[in-house]
Amino acid sequence: MNQQELKKLVGQAALKYVKEGEILGVGTGSTVDCFIDALKVSGMKIPACVSSSERSTQKLLSYGFKVLDLNEVERIGVYVDGADEIDSNFAMIKGGGGALTREKIVAMVSDRFVCIADASKKVDVLGKFPLPIEVIPMAVRAVSREIEKLGGKPVLRDFTTDNGNKILDVHGWSIENPIQWEEHLNQIVGVVTVGLFAKRGADVLLLGTENGVKTFSA
Ligand code: 5RP
Repeated sequence: MNQQELKKLVGQAALKYVKEGEILGVGTGSTVDCFIDALKVSGMKIPACVSSSERSTQKLLSYGFKVLDLNEVERIGVYVDGADEIDSNFAMIKGGGGALTREKIVAMVSDRFVCIADASKKVDVLGKFPLPIEVIPMAVRAVSREIEKLGGKPVLRDFTTDNGNKILDVHGWSIENPIQWEEHLNQIVGVVTVGLFAKRGADVLLLGTENGVKTFSA
């Protein structure tokens, strides 16, 4: 099976966690696109979704799903999203698609985070995938200097987030203690969000492998 087939497999598998009649949190990325496709085909009755990006919002609306602003919603039962890397404690690097800030906000108000990923995303130590950090535009150089002091190599992505900010992709870190790194990097003035999801990691991992979908629970 190629990577796209594995993404479809886990997108389909995530339907098991969706509860009809409940507001659903929907993440961003090509794996989530497969999930949204599967959701549409399933015909499940979802009163509304809360989305983590304009991209997912447009896709959901095009399929006839209602999308609510998070300010209209108090709690979300289940949030389905992908990851760029995930370790054995279910800490993740996210933000490859640039939606990390909204993803972290939706994850915060969700009772259950279901991570869907193909097998290539499972790692022992986070950091091979460059860590995305969303930054206020005027702070790009200042934050870059702080990151360099910590041994990271920041690369400015040619991209503007849904929130009007920039993203630095940081190479060269091996992240053994993701909770501490998340806390530390979030303290740098000018950083909006670091793409480490360790303090609030995933609760369930659906991993697409050659032998089918493997389920891991926190
Ligand atoms: C977007 C994300 C995505 O979940 C992550 O980049 C994985 O994407 P894909 O499913 O396309 O591999 O964090 O900001």
